Amino acid sequence: MRPLLFSFPGCEGLAASFRDAMGAEDGGIQVHRFPDGENKVRLLTAVEGRDVALLSTLAYPESRVLPLLFAADAARDLGAKSVGLVAPYLAYMRQDRRFRDGEAISSATFAKMLSSAFDWMATVDPHLHRYASLSEIYSIPTEAVAASPSIARYIEAKIPKPVVVGPDSESKQWVSAVAERAGAPYFVLEKLRLGDRDVEIKVPGMERWKDRTPVLVDDIVSTARTMIETVAGLLKAGANPPICIGVHAIFADRAYRDLLAAGAARVVTANTIGHESNAIDVGGVLAEAALRLLGRTPV
Ligand code: R5P
Repeated sequence: MRPLLFSFPGCEGLAASFRDAMGAEDGGIQVHRFPDGENKVRLLTAVEGRDVALLSTLAYPESRVLPLLFAADAARDLGAKSVGLVAPYLAYMRQDRRFRDGEAISSATFAKMLSSAFDWMATVDPHLHRYASLSEIYSIPTEAVAASPSIARYIEAKIPKPVVVGPDSESKQWVSAVAERAGAPYFVLEKLRLGDRDVEIKVPGMERWKDRTPVLVDDIVSTARTMIETVAGLLKAGANPPICIGVHAIFADRAYRDLLAAGAARVVTANTIGHESNAIDVGGVLAEAALRLLGRTPV
């Protein structure tokens, strides 16, 4: 029997390619939000004996996580054979240590919660900085799919003479992978984060790259201050207008407009979080990961 897929709002741009590549059947789900903010979840398709996958991005997790947990528990209670989570964007990965005394290590708490609700989880480029892999905090089988091959294909197809730029040392892992696959040179900048919306980026002279288009690549674009400061620094250093590529398009408040206003020639993201900048589809690779976790062969 085919796996049964329940898709939550926020993944519309990825749900069809994911479902088709997974060979899954769409299940119906209703989430009703009561006036007091509580949620009621109803599965409209029978789950008994089925491998169930719940697809939900976890950007802005507070409103999304409880309905997801209710749906997972309901599926189990109603006899699902297995219940997996497909979270194209995995929240809370950046709080990966106690930066100041008394802070909660949210990534570990969040991982415990999801591990107790699901049998497996597939995601795209989780923010693995101080953790080497998800298995350090998740006790269920997981797969972290890289968006770098899809980003490299986009660059090769759409951007002549690129130079790939990472805004900070953390970005080196995906920037180097993207550049290598796209056959482009790359360099990584130095970032100092002073607060949520206060970021300083050091940019060297750009004479060497005058005939190239800088392509900033980062995993998460949240306030976009990292990209905005990098774009401003590159332009000031004499670079061509940069193209910004982010994996996860969080874009808090006015971030997207501010980034365009800062002088980005184009802003492009993967479809792990629904946004108008989505132009890189990772549904297929995510489905392959889900099939591996289920021990099934690709369709
Ligand atoms: C840093 O750890 C991440 O890789 C991103 O650079 C960061 O999350 C971007 O955040 P913002 O858009 O708020 O500057």
